[in-house]
Amino acid sequence: MNETVLKTLGVTLVVCLLCSLFVSFTAVSLRDQQNTNKLNDKRIKILEAANLYDDSKSIEEQFRNLEIRFLDFDTGNVFSEYKDFDLDNYDQLKSLRFPDQSKPVPADKDIAIIKNRENIGKIYFSKKDNEIDKLILPIRGYGLWGTLYGYIAIENDFNTVVGIEFYEHKETPGLGGEVDNPNWKDIWVGKKIYKTGDVQLQVIKGAVDQNMDDSIYMVDGLSGATLTSKGVSNMIQYWFSDSGYLKLLENLDYGS
Ligand SMILES: Cc1cc2nc3c(=O)[nH]c(=O)nc-3n(C[C@H](O)[C@H](O)[C@H](O)COP(=O)(O)O)c2cc1C
Repeated sequence: MNETVLKTLGVTLVVCLLCSLFVSFTAVSLRDQQNTNKLNDKRIKILEAANLYDDSKSIEEQFRNLEIRFLDFDTGNVFSEYKDFDLDNYDQLKSLRFPDQSKPVPADKDIAIIKNRENIGKIYFSKKDNEIDKLILPIRGYGLWGTLYGYIAIENDFNTVVGIEFYEHKETPGLGGEVDNPNWKDIWVGKKIYKTGDVQLQVIKGAVDQNMDDSIYMVDGLSGATLTSKGVSNMIQYWFSDSGYLKLLENLDYGS
């Protein structure tokens, strides 16, 4: 009797051990692939925001056509080299962990609820004949359930939206998750950001009346998801303000 119980326990233990070894081995061996997939997904979103993605071509090849630059948020200056940071691998979200690489956002300015902003960002230029054609900028901000991470691309007038994409969020599918709906993302195309120097672009509650004077600055709210819509609106407000990309855009604005 005892021998049977011991045997059963022994066999169970061995099976458990083998299973856990198998799971650990699979998890470790797939980690590289998962990281590559994550990176590719981000790269696709960057290209898609700028309406540049062609799924018949290699992601890497298309991504190589973009010019990546560091951005010093405090001055709006752009660099191809910064300290010992590696441009390809620099992750501005990781720099949020280091007090010497990021700063707390004062509560009265933290409309996107990001808490900390990195000192150095990473931005992407798409060029034509050596001139800036489009600019792709990372954005993030709190929705209802968590932070939404994405990119917004703008034309070389530094005021017209080319596209918006989110690569990570926790919003509810069918409600806030509709930020990924291509029909909603299409509404952003051609919208204007600044009106007489102020950020005017916003997601409103309900549908935009196209006959309204300022409809060019308005995007339809997501129905049943006012909080996510407000979160997206706030992140636009924050990232195009003086704390975000305004200094950069003023530096780049050569009157085109
Ligand atoms: C299970 C559940 C999930 C929800 N998910 C979201 C969401 O992702 N984004 C959002 O803004 N509101 C979400 N809401 C609704 C909010 O609680 C809130 O009612 C809504 O934002 C108000 O929008 P409305 O004024 O357009 O109805 C969710 C509600 C429930 C019950």
